[in-house]
Amino acid sequence: MQDFERFKYQQRTRSEIGAVWQPNRLTMAHLPVIFDRIANRQAFDNPVSITSQFSTAAQVPLGIIVSPHAQDASFITPEGMYIEDLPIKFPQTDYRIPQIIWDNYGDLLKREIELERMINPHLDDQYIYLTIQQSTVKKDDTHRPSGVHIDGFQKPNIIPQPVQHQMSICNMLPTKFYAAPLTGNPAQMQKKEIFNALAHACQGITPYRPPVYTLHLLNAYCPHEPDTAPADGFRTFIRFSASSIPFMGQDNTRNDLFSYNWDAQTKRDFYKSITKPGL
Ligand SMILES: [Fe+2]
Repeated sequence: MQDFERFKYQQRTRSEIGAVWQPNRLTMAHLPVIFDRIANRQAFDNPVSITSQFSTAAQVPLGIIVSPHAQDASFITPEGMYIEDLPIKFPQTDYRIPQIIWDNYGDLLKREIELERMINPHLDDQYIYLTIQQSTVKKDDTHRPSGVHIDGFQKPNIIPQPVQHQMSICNMLPTKFYAAPLTGNPAQMQKKEIFNALAHACQGITPYRPPVYTLHLLNAYCPHEPDTAPADGFRTFIRFSASSIPFMGQDNTRNDLFSYNWDAQTKRDFYKSITKPGL
C-alpha cells in the first residue's frame, strides 16, 4: 500500500472519534493511527508480579485516584497481569486505578489519559475500560481469540451512540489490521453476516501491522485479527477503550474501587433503555 493511501485511511479513523456510530461507514477502508511510542518497556517484556514496580510515574495527576485494594492480587497470574475490560472510569467520575496497575503501568496510563482528554469530546459521559493480558503465546497459536472482527459493534436497534474507540499497544506479534471495505449494505445485515462479510473482504489483503511498542488508535470500523505466532514468545497486550455503553459481561474484571452492580437483570434493563421504541 502506498503511504498516501495509508494516511488517508488512518486520518479517516481519527476524524470519526466523537461522531455517531453509522454501520455504513464499514463500507470504507480504515486503519489505526499511531499516536506515540513507549520508551519504558519493562512492564511489556517482563511479567508483572505482586511486588514489581515497573512504572516510573512518581506523581499521580489530578483527576486520577490510585488506591490499593484486597482484590489487587487477583489481577496477577503465574504469567503476569491479566484483566479484561476492567472499568477505570464511569460517567461523571474521576479515574480510579488499582495500585498494582498504576505501579507497573502508570507511565502508559498517564499518556493514554492525556491523549483521551485531547481526542474525546464525550469523555465525561463515558466509561473507560482497561484490558491487560500477559502470557506466553505458543507457536502456531494466537494470544487473543482468533478471527477477523471489529471492537465495539452496535446493533442497529440501539439508539445511536458515539462510535467506540480504543488505544492498543503490544510488545510483539502485532495485531493484523486490514484496509478492507465491507461490500453490501450493513443496515440490512445481521451482526454475524457483517463479521463474515468483513472476514471475506480481508482475504488476500496484505495486513497492516502497527509497530510494536506504539500506541495506536482504532475505532469500531477497523477490521482486525490476532496474528499466529511463528515461535513461542512472551506477549503483553494492553487496550484502553472508551464507550458510552457499560460492558456488563460476566467475564469482565470488576473494579472494587467503584460500587456498582452489573448482573444479568441490570444488563437487560440497560439495553431496554437504549433500544429504539417499538423494537
Ligand atoms: Fe479486537
